[in-house]
Amino acid sequence: MPMVSELSPAVRLHQVTKVFGDPRAGTVALRAVTADFAAGSFTALMGPSGSGKSTLLMCAAGLTRPSSGVVQIADQRIDNASESALTRLRRDRISFVFQHFQLIDSLTALENVLLPARLAGRRVRSGDALELLDLVGLAERTGHRPAQLSGGQQQRVAIARALITRPTVLFADEPTGALDQSAGAEVLELLRGLCAARGTTVVMVTHDAAAAAAADRVLLLLDGVLVDELRGATVGEISDRVLVGR
Ligand SMILES: Nc1ncnc2c1ncn2[C@@H]1O[C@H](COP(=O)(O)OP(=O)(O)O)[C@@H](O)[C@H]1O
Ligand SMILES: [Mg+2]
Repeated sequence: MPMVSELSPAVRLHQVTKVFGDPRAGTVALRAVTADFAAGSFTALMGPSGSGKSTLLMCAAGLTRPSSGVVQIADQRIDNASESALTRLRRDRISFVFQHFQLIDSLTALENVLLPARLAGRRVRSGDALELLDLVGLAERTGHRPAQLSGGQQQRVAIARALITRPTVLFADEPTGALDQSAGAEVLELLRGLCAARGTTVVMVTHDAAAAAAADRVLLLLDGVLVDELRGATVGEISDRVLVGR
């Protein structure tokens, strides 16, 4: 069992197993996965379709309970937390960014950044949202609606929205999957900068070796097993390793 200490990583999974359906005959989506995500680190999670990437994110974010094992966010154990504790944790410490942005079409960029936190009962100030939109390079676009923004700009609004609650961890599921190469590169640069400047921990699922190369570390899942960990790898090294994995 991991010890709780001030030096706890932002996210810790210890021997996490997840079985869907019948405990003995169901689908084993994760098998005894152990991984630490240091505060302020940027990790890419790779693996073929069905290898358990989304399940790992869901377990780490307290959206799915593991069948066994321990999950901690900072110093808080969440695998056995009550539903109300999980709701608070998801509201206060965790944010998501998705492939298809999931902005509200009828709202401006500024309103999109503010609304979800306010709906969740958080006190957030317009000034903070404007600062974040500036940080993501959209100071001139705060009154634009999603349809008036490019894909890359929409994803940057989604990142500003994810940051407004000052989360411990930002989970990103294929954040560049719907973007062209240059818009994707800008989004990755932004995510990298956030880890460095704000100490946000980013955990990103991606199929793209070039995107993964922007991270400090790549974790490779195969059939629910964490089979490899690459640090400081090049795009070529990552794509070679992922191909061998298949
Ligand atoms: N809610 C669910 N119910 C049953 N099986 C599931 C569920 N979610 C995922 N699975 C199964 O768990 C395995 C891992 O899925 P997933 O985590 O979505 O993989 P990935 O994100 O890497 O594609 C797959 O075999 C998938 O079919
Ligand atoms: Mg998935």
